[in-house]
Amino acid sequence: MVEICIIYDKLRFEERALYDKAIKKNLNAQLIDAKNLILSTSSRKSDLQFGGILLQRTVSYFRGLYLTSCLEFLGYKVINNFNVGEICGNKLVTSLHLAKHHIPTPETGFAFSAEGARKMLNKMGYPAVLKPLIGSWGRGVFPIRDEETANILVETREENGNALSRIYYIQEMVERPPRDVRCIVVDDNVITAIYRYSPGNEWRTNVAMGGKAEKATITNELEDIVLRAARSVGGGILGVDLMEDRSRGLLVHEINNTVEFRGAQDVSEVDIADAILDYAIKIAKS
Ligand SMILES: Nc1ncnc2c1ncn2[C@@H]1O[C@H](COP(=O)(O)OP(=O)(O)O)[C@@H](O)[C@H]1O
Ligand SMILES: [Mg+2]
Repeated sequence: MVEICIIYDKLRFEERALYDKAIKKNLNAQLIDAKNLILSTSSRKSDLQFGGILLQRTVSYFRGLYLTSCLEFLGYKVINNFNVGEICGNKLVTSLHLAKHHIPTPETGFAFSAEGARKMLNKMGYPAVLKPLIGSWGRGVFPIRDEETANILVETREENGNALSRIYYIQEMVERPPRDVRCIVVDDNVITAIYRYSPGNEWRTNVAMGGKAEKATITNELEDIVLRAARSVGGGILGVDLMEDRSRGLLVHEINNTVEFRGAQDVSEVDIADAILDYAIKIAKS
């Protein structure tokens, strides 16, 4: 019997759905709280009874990433693997992979000092979008409409004690409808796609900001760009997010490594947890 271990730090809809579905599929499933694990250089795979495959589902990016590193060191198969997690968790690194593989993506600038950020913003012009390198749910994603606001934001970033806040990720503002497209990729399939709409007074379209979801059609064009994007970061179980630019069409702006699928599940007929588990079983047996 395939043993599946779901690693979490906060039990959300997704981790419960995966566990419940695994039990229904007669899998030997365990839920493991990442916060309780301790490991060392003398740890052995046999010290842990984690079975054939691990689904890394922590909310905390760094917790998941470094725990994955330890588990891979012990010889466990983890989905998504460390390399994919490291690329997708960081918007700068993701953008570089997308660009390298010629995936249509918004024009994005990188700067490494306050002076550099101001120079880049002047070069790209306004409006622009400033984002933290690491983060989700739209937190810290700022639309910047003028130089005055830009200067204040850069000043605030410089005062922040976190070294990453002084690395600047500056993106053109895409002219898009008040929605974006979230595609869930499992293995080499786009299993569902949804539109996410901004709530009334909000520019960001994250469901976590209260936006609503609606089923989207998976056109050949969408499927092609999404699968190419997923492959460009190493594949696995991914949430590929796109914007619909008025003149250029679909642009991939983000790839999520620990994809939330509650909003997508609400409006899709496909069973997302089931598809994820089938993929995990395939990897466990490979
Ligand atoms: N360059 C952009 N142009 C227009 N809207 C954007 C741009 N970048 C982000 N947004 C909006 O902000 C939301 C959050 O940005 P995103 O890059 O997805 O960060 P997060 O990882 O926090 O979700 C997007 O879903 C989109 O609605
Ligand atoms: Mg996003």
